Amino acid sequence: MKGIVLAGGSGTRLFPLTVATSKQLLAIYNKPLVYYPISTLMLSGIRDILIISTPTAVPVMRTLLGDGSRLGLNLSYAVQDEPRGIAEAFLIGADHIGGDSSALVLGDNVFHGAGFPDLLRGSRASLDGCTLFGYPVSDPERFGIGEVDATGKLVSLEEKPTRPRSNKAITGLYFYDNQVVDIAREIAPSPRGELEITDVNLEYLNQGRVRLVELSRGYKWFDCGTHDSLLAASQHVRFVEKYQGERVACLEEIAFRMGFIDAEACYRLGLELRQSDYGRHLTEIALDLAVPPAA
Ligand code: DAU
Repeated sequence: MKGIVLAGGSGTRLFPLTVATSKQLLAIYNKPLVYYPISTLMLSGIRDILIISTPTAVPVMRTLLGDGSRLGLNLSYAVQDEPRGIAEAFLIGADHIGGDSSALVLGDNVFHGAGFPDLLRGSRASLDGCTLFGYPVSDPERFGIGEVDATGKLVSLEEKPTRPRSNKAITGLYFYDNQVVDIAREIAPSPRGELEITDVNLEYLNQGRVRLVELSRGYKWFDCGTHDSLLAASQHVRFVEKYQGERVACLEEIAFRMGFIDAEACYRLGLELRQSDYGRHLTEIALDLAVPPAA
């Protein structure tokens, strides 16, 4: 499965914060926002990731993340020069996907929860068509919304409905089989001029090939598209890291725990950042979790 992080857009709803920088480079507590969606793909076991962003942000992302080899990843970059819609990710990313399945994550989506890695890997293994992830929200007019019947089966999908039929938001994480590229090529721009991801999902729904995984109690999801949600995500990460002693979206730690890099590499990455608490954490876990050499 190939990964795509869609991290473009103009960020106008966050002005003036995003006049001179991209939304996905803003801080969520102690790390850039884009780390969080990348961590979601890594926790799904995906190592081949395309980052799509604006002409000005791509060089900055490249400086931040490089080619990914330090994390045992293969990162590549592509430009979306105008925000022509989320589904355009599959047109820009068609060569990257090739004949494989794909996971798309929006660059401003933060997920966290116990058991999330298992849920992701299980969803990936059982993919048949398209898998969406739902989360209950109090402001459903802001999102793609899914309605399920009494048996839990998804029966309708609507993008930002004025009269929502449920409070189940479709989050910005999508798993697809290879057909997604052809579907994205077929859909037309919506009245607001965008290639809508909901139209792609509707095609899978019409084919009866959508599964909805509900992120229920114990999960947190933030779409960091507003000042309040940026702050709420930061507060959540701070709470988890300070009081529960667990790191969220620490990419080097995830790479180490997933077996993408070894303890020595993790230790070296930590040394480079040792002036920060983040760096010291990496050297500590590398030493704590390293397998001692055989006697
Ligand atoms: O976050 C989940 C929601 O994301 C879904 O529930 C909706 O169905 C989906 O349409 C989307 O709604 P948003 O209103 O959050 O979409 P927005 O236009 O804010 O774009 C989401 C992210 O994707 C944002 O970080 C910018 C980026 N983006 C968006 C578009 C339209 C791009 O990089 N390129 C684009 O062309």
